[in-house]
Amino acid sequence: MNILGIETSCDETSVGIVDGDGYVRANVIATQIDIHARYGGIVPEVASRQHVLDIRPVCEQAVRDAGLDWGDIDAVAATHGPGLAGSLIVGLNFSKGLSAALDIPLIGVNHMDGHVYGAWAITEDHGLEPFQELIGEQPIMCLVVSGGHTELVLLEGHGKFRLLGETRDDAAGEAFDKAARVLGLRYPGGPEIQRVAEGAPETDPLPRAWMRGTDEFSFSGLKTAVLTRARKLGIYPPNGASGGADPDVVGGLAKAFQDSVIDVLVTKTISAAKRENCAGIVLVGGVAANGPLRQTLKEKSPLPVAIPPFKLCTDNGAMIAMSGLVNFRNGRRDDWDLDIVPSLRIGTSALV
Ligand code: KG4
Ligand code: ZN
Repeated sequence: MNILGIETSCDETSVGIVDGDGYVRANVIATQIDIHARYGGIVPEVASRQHVLDIRPVCEQAVRDAGLDWGDIDAVAATHGPGLAGSLIVGLNFSKGLSAALDIPLIGVNHMDGHVYGAWAITEDHGLEPFQELIGEQPIMCLVVSGGHTELVLLEGHGKFRLLGETRDDAAGEAFDKAARVLGLRYPGGPEIQRVAEGAPETDPLPRAWMRGTDEFSFSGLKTAVLTRARKLGIYPPNGASGGADPDVVGGLAKAFQDSVIDVLVTKTISAAKRENCAGIVLVGGVAANGPLRQTLKEKSPLPVAIPPFKLCTDNGAMIAMSGLVNFRNGRRDDWDLDIVPSLRIGTSALV
């Protein structure tokens, strides 16, 4: 069997196809990063109109990449939330049309569940067989860190999620994007901060918000701390006339910021996983693309850690197809009447 997954919750139009074993046969991602970069964040209406243009060619490309015909697709899965309303509508409506035209089941997928199940999708260099066997006996701790969310989710069985805690203010990715703006770096800020922090000199650490006694997070104080220190160091507001800020100063502050985020995420995830007697830890979401975060979690965790490859970390259709496959196996078929579930806010929006 083959499930086609459609993801349009934010600024990526993506279509992926997985087979009945969860093997990724195609994962086409049309990113709008360059379009939004000039605004310093996502402009929702621009995003939804670009989805309108990209959805059909991306879908056709995925079917071609998989070496399939339309008749080989057995079900379509689509993100129905959370995300930007206008963007979600494009993908969900297209998938409703596709399932009607092909006379195949339609499965609505929660975007965050999709991120988690991205870790279960199998590619040439990634497979989670040990985790697949473990699930059901002991829970798995999932840290979902993206531009709009920072969540600790306990996976108690396939398709059975329990939200333990989330951010009270900014998401981790949002904090990366906003700190990058203060440092004069381009959008999206995560990869930029990682780049300038690499090999940067050590500086005074920035504060950590531990939110002790809870599984919650908070990053807005850290964002303010970056702003305050950037002002003291004279790198904010940016002064174009002086020829730009000293790269060591920018890199040092970026590193202090990144270290603080990683310390909190890793420490809290490991302690929650031990407390809940978990079999392992899964790290997913766009921020899971961060090299030092991946490395620190693997080094410090006494439990096995699984992190999908980069293309399955940031928003993609294969993770939606994978979650669709799990739901299909659990008996989900007809989400014809499904509406979108938008987020009240998306952290990476240029308007926030
Ligand atoms: O999951 P995602 O693609 O979209 C949402 O659902 O939000 O995550 C996007 C977020 C952005 O905030 C981006 O800055 C962050 O992931 N990100 C990173 C890295 N690559 C992407 N953050 C830190 N380090 C990275 N290498
Ligand atoms: Zn996402």
